[in-house]
Amino acid sequence: MITINEHYLKLQASYLFSDIAKRVATFQENNPDKDIIRLGIGDVTRPLPKACITALHAAVDEMASDASFHGYGPEQGYAFLREAIAKHDFQDQGADISADEIFVSDGAKCDSGNIQELFTTDIKVALPDPVYPVYLDTNVMAGRTGVFADGRYQGITYLDAVRSNNFVPDLPKEPVDLIYLCFPNNPTGTTATKEELKTWVDYAHEHKALILFDAAYEAFIRDESLPKSIFEIDGAKEVAIEFRSFSKNAGFTGTRCAYTVVPKECMAFDSKGNKQAVHPLWNRRHCTKFNGVSYPIQKAAEAVYSAEGKAQTRELTDYYLRNAAHIKAEIGKLGFDCVGGDNSPYIWIDGQGRDSWEFFDLLLNTAGVVCTPGAGFGKCGQGYIRLSAFNSHENVVTAMERISAELK
Ligand code: MLT
Repeated sequence: MITINEHYLKLQASYLFSDIAKRVATFQENNPDKDIIRLGIGDVTRPLPKACITALHAAVDEMASDASFHGYGPEQGYAFLREAIAKHDFQDQGADISADEIFVSDGAKCDSGNIQELFTTDIKVALPDPVYPVYLDTNVMAGRTGVFADGRYQGITYLDAVRSNNFVPDLPKEPVDLIYLCFPNNPTGTTATKEELKTWVDYAHEHKALILFDAAYEAFIRDESLPKSIFEIDGAKEVAIEFRSFSKNAGFTGTRCAYTVVPKECMAFDSKGNKQAVHPLWNRRHCTKFNGVSYPIQKAAEAVYSAEGKAQTRELTDYYLRNAAHIKAEIGKLGFDCVGGDNSPYIWIDGQGRDSWEFFDLLLNTAGVVCTPGAGFGKCGQGYIRLSAFNSHENVVTAMERISAELK
């Protein structure tokens, strides 16, 4: 008899963004003439940078002749891309990361969801609340939680990110083994200072814990005092893994390219308490379950690091940051408390006592604007909504005019 992994039955009915997409589709079906503006899922709308497109075309042409054709590539990614990443994203920023510590993949969502496979099911997991649902759901699927009750899974250590701690969670009160952190944060848009990250690195050393650091939004940081990578913090290489993506800096959400950094010094422990390097384990998993990102896409990603690519990706993130600033200003004028939007494409808005999903429905039904209900990111997100800056500036201006007209 084929039996199922019953941990899947503990999951909430559907993945947050699929749930929202279904609701929006139903609304559009019932209101075919309504013009909907999507400020919900963080999906980019601007075309790929010209440098990437040029590189992509050239690489596709290479695939057309015997002499330059590429079949399977190295599972970890081509050396040209891994070397460019190590130099430009880390070494030039003062973080000592080498090319063979970079694992190129098709998404930070997949990597941050898959990495937990390396660890036993009895570890204690700490997650911020609100949180990107992938971190939580993949641990539920793996059986690291009890049932869902009162808005939370039993067995998880939730780290509240609320107004009183400026949405940057405090250290856990009980010892934990695996810690998920994301800065600039999804969904709150808040950032962490070097000093704040240092307290987490120190905690991880003290408790033999591991930090999974999601830096998918680092390209939006404009405040130069803020860390873009956890590896800017002394001692982080022993206790942290970092996830990065080309989705939000270079518009690769539909193109798919990302990478994970697993330093060779990064250690976990076996059942006898002996140190085991994580790097060879992730390498083993990656080689077994993944066949690499396609050559043309890796060439397109490499172009992000050319002089033109750097200027064009900066222009892209500046464009979305201008949207974020506009949303923030208009929401502020309406008297709502909000955070994020300065070094991040997300604005986290306190609904002034409204239920998150009610606020979602209100904006959709009256203004035709899609947001993401904060409650979908966790219990502490109840009462909040997230607006994303990923849309055309014209659409963002129209969306804010409509919201202002409805909520004034
Ligand atoms: C989000 O809207 O939170 C993200 O776009 C989702 C993702 O990157 O998977």
